[in-house]
Amino acid sequence: MSAKVIDGKEFAANVRAKVAEHVARLKEANGITPGLAVVLVGEDPASEVYVRSKGKSTVEAGMNSYEHKLDADTSEADLLALIDKLNNDPAVHGILVQLPLPGHLNSDLVINSIDPAKDVDGFHISNVGLLGTGQKSMVPCTPLGCLMMLRDHHGSLSGLDAVVVGRSNIVGKPMAQLLLGDSCTVTIAHSRTKDLAEVCRRADILVAAVGRPEMIPGDWVKPGATVIDVGINRIERDGKKKLVGDVEYESCAAVAGAITPVPGGVGPMTIACLLANTLTACCRANGLAEPEGLTA
Ligand code: GUN
Repeated sequence: MSAKVIDGKEFAANVRAKVAEHVARLKEANGITPGLAVVLVGEDPASEVYVRSKGKSTVEAGMNSYEHKLDADTSEADLLALIDKLNNDPAVHGILVQLPLPGHLNSDLVINSIDPAKDVDGFHISNVGLLGTGQKSMVPCTPLGCLMMLRDHHGSLSGLDAVVVGRSNIVGKPMAQLLLGDSCTVTIAHSRTKDLAEVCRRADILVAAVGRPEMIPGDWVKPGATVIDVGINRIERDGKKKLVGDVEYESCAAVAGAITPVPGGVGPMTIACLLANTLTACCRANGLAEPEGLTA
């Protein structure tokens, strides 16, 4: 069997187009422009690239982008004061503090100081609790993007065996909650799981989010399964730099029913879902109907 390749780039372009269309209608009918504030502390080069890309995509979708770049030695008090200002700014509907933060800042404290209604990352403990109890919340962008692609491919996910490899707060745990919400039987596995290969072979849906290059080979995949590869790992092979996922693409694609490539799979969906979450937050803040198909 050769797997259907799930084109995340195309999927993300459709999500962005839907967001842009809804934003244009909001402006026209209600005179409201959604706004996203992104806060970057320090000069981590990878974070700078992400933040630039988020700002550009926000403007392309017709929304306002507010970038706040702070020095690496910014005090916690100053960062919290900025977040308080953004929490109280009616033009700002979404707030994202780029992680990782410099070591002297307490990330949990900072994230939990964001107004949960503006927490477009879905990392605030209130949103984590709301998601875990099946209530309306802001949902983390990467797992939301994975869910959208899975629903599109399968229709209903009800009753399917899902295995999520990875237990991070950003991807693994919320992914598992979303799959449970769609009535999958969910296993969260990780690097200490006993007989990980056997656990993975049970999966109708296998989500790899461990951050280890090509850790999952094709013989861990059930024939016909859907493989969602969240990993983005930079490696060097034969003297060339290369991006690879957490699964061994060629061997997995030979067995799977469908698979997301790296690059061009899950990656593009993250920013698309950030835009979707900003729009959702704006609609909720204004008591307007939420965009269809763009939330969990
Ligand atoms: N750093 C890497 N990924 C993310 C993300 O999704 N959100 C934030 N805030 N920081 C990140």
